[in-house]
Amino acid sequence: PYRVAVLASGRGSNFSALLRAQQNASLPIELVAVLSDKPSAAVVERAREAGISTWAESAKGYASRADFDHALFSQLSAIQPDLIVCAGYMRIIGAEVLTPWTGRMINIHPSLLPKYPGLHTHRRALEAGDSEHGASVHFVTAELDGGPVIAQVRVPVLADDSEATLAARVLDREHPLLLATVAAMARGEIGLAKHAVEFKGQVLQRPLQL
Ligand code: GAR
Repeated sequence: PYRVAVLASGRGSNFSALLRAQQNASLPIELVAVLSDKPSAAVVERAREAGISTWAESAKGYASRADFDHALFSQLSAIQPDLIVCAGYMRIIGAEVLTPWTGRMINIHPSLLPKYPGLHTHRRALEAGDSEHGASVHFVTAELDGGPVIAQVRVPVLADDSEATLAARVLDREHPLLLATVAAMARGEIGLAKHAVEFKGQVLQRPLQL
């Protein structure tokens, strides 16, 4: 099967969606590892319960950013996944990890990129008065949340939305978005060509809309 490693720092609902899809065989993947910079994160616990190998270390235990990146690189080199999925991984990934995995590392981000890279995306969409919001899956590059976008999902912003209700509506759609993107990656349908996404051999003019 297609070997997937997950990088995550938090509650792990996107990881859990991948795990369920593996378990019910709706997605032909094998989750081979969860790597985290937050040893106390719920996602680490969930992975352990499922018998998936985990590596969870705080960057505070390392002398420098480069040292932490090197440790992460060593882990990934030993695991050799086909794909790395960043699912709520809240740390910037350094060049030592990024360079060898470019084109094989994707991130899910809770906005319609290129709108709202970074944090507090739901609050920013509400403050801007957007009528539409959503989530994106993109290739990870050195530019924070700035790599080529593979696929997106759109949700309406409702008049009485709070940050929490909007976040929940987006999260609900993130899981199928991520599963569909990973499925297409596993089928070999998606690639990174220079700064563009290729889908079935053609350069995508706009992200896939799921
Ligand atoms: C998700 O909403 C994901 O899109 C977001 O963090 C949440 C993680 O939820 N990612 C980022 O903000 C990345 N910059 P989860 O831990 O339940 O999957």
